[in-house]
This record gives sequence, structure tokens and C-alpha cells, in this order.
Amino acid sequence: MNTMTETLHGAHEHAKFREMKEGTAEDWAIIGKEYREFAKGLPDRVLDHLKLLKGDFGGFPVCRLEHSLQTATRAHRDGRDEQYVVMALLHDIGDTLGSYNHPEVAASIIKPFVTDEIHWICENHGAFQGYYYFHFLGMDKDAREKFRGHPHFEACREFCEKYDQAAFDPDYESESLEFFEPMVRRVMERPLASMYAKVVDD
Ligand SMILES: [Fe+2]
Ligand SMILES: [Fe+2]
Repeated sequence: MNTMTETLHGAHEHAKFREMKEGTAEDWAIIGKEYREFAKGLPDRVLDHLKLLKGDFGGFPVCRLEHSLQTATRAHRDGRDEQYVVMALLHDIGDTLGSYNHPEVAASIIKPFVTDEIHWICENHGAFQGYYYFHFLGMDKDAREKFRGHPHFEACREFCEKYDQAAFDPDYESESLEFFEPMVRRVMERPLASMYAKVVDD
């Protein structure tokens, strides 16, 4: 272990095992405690990552952070609840790491904290957004039709129509990221239903 690593981690207790199968209750008490502390920092890590979208235009009229703020602002001003607004804010956060499947990245991040419908909207918004541009790229604008009949089809269509495809206006007055921060913190305060919820609760 080098000096830097010792400085970073030296103040913390460590589990003793070299392979997980050697783990003891004492080891896992240490790890569980660390996990609960680390989990509390999730909103900060998510907000920091969202900021990576700032200045990233990709040829669009507004940068990806402004698009995110504008999508969330439009949803908020239309009276959507906090889970929905936070989904709208984060729906493209996967653009940096999931360049070929960005909706799934955002959907995975919000999954423990939102309803099935809001998760589904996020996970599938890519195909529904395609209705507005896939044909310009030689793709099928009706790609969303494979989901026709799904209980959340209309909700996803509406998200894209009202908020996502509409959020590229350089003259729109979006709320700031600071405005949405408390919402992100409230929504991500604790998992609604997750295999990890019990660990956080203990
Ligand atoms: Fe997207
Ligand atoms: Fe988007």
C-alpha cells in the first residue's frame, strides 16, 4: 500500500479477508457501515456527473446540461412531481459513459427511487425520441411502435413530446441546477424498493 492510499483510507477500519469466502460478520459490519456512509453521497456524485454535460453541444442548439435543465424545467412548470422532474433532469446523464445506450444508464441510476412508470419512461425515451429524427439518419422513426400497447407507452410518448424533444430552445429561461438540487437530494434520500434498502435502513 503506498503512502497516498494509506492517507486516503488509513482512518477507516478494513475487513480482513483476502477472498470473500473467508468473510466474517465483523468484516461485513465494517463494510456495511462504510456502505451506508458512501450511499449518502450519491446525490453529490450524480450532480457532479451531470455537470460533465456542460458545454457539450454535440452539434445541438444547446449544450447537454442546458437540455437537461430545460427538460426538467418544462416538466416542473407543467406540474410534474419530484420523481418525474428528477428523471427529466437526469434522463441524458448517461451520454458521457453510455454513448450507445444512454437511456439505460440514467434509468439504472434512478431505478431504486422512482415508480415503475417513471423508470420505464427513462429507460425507453431513446426510441420515442427517435420519432422526431431517426428518419433523418436513415433509421425508422416509428421504432417506438414496438412498444405500442405497453401500459407506459403513452406516458413515454408524452414525456418526449412535451418536454424532451421541446428542450432545445437557446432562448428558454431554464431553472438553474441549484434549483433542482434539493429535489435530487429528496428523491435519492432512500431507495423505495431495492435489494439494498434493508442495508440502508439497518
Ligand atoms: Fe436522451
Ligand atoms: Fe433528452
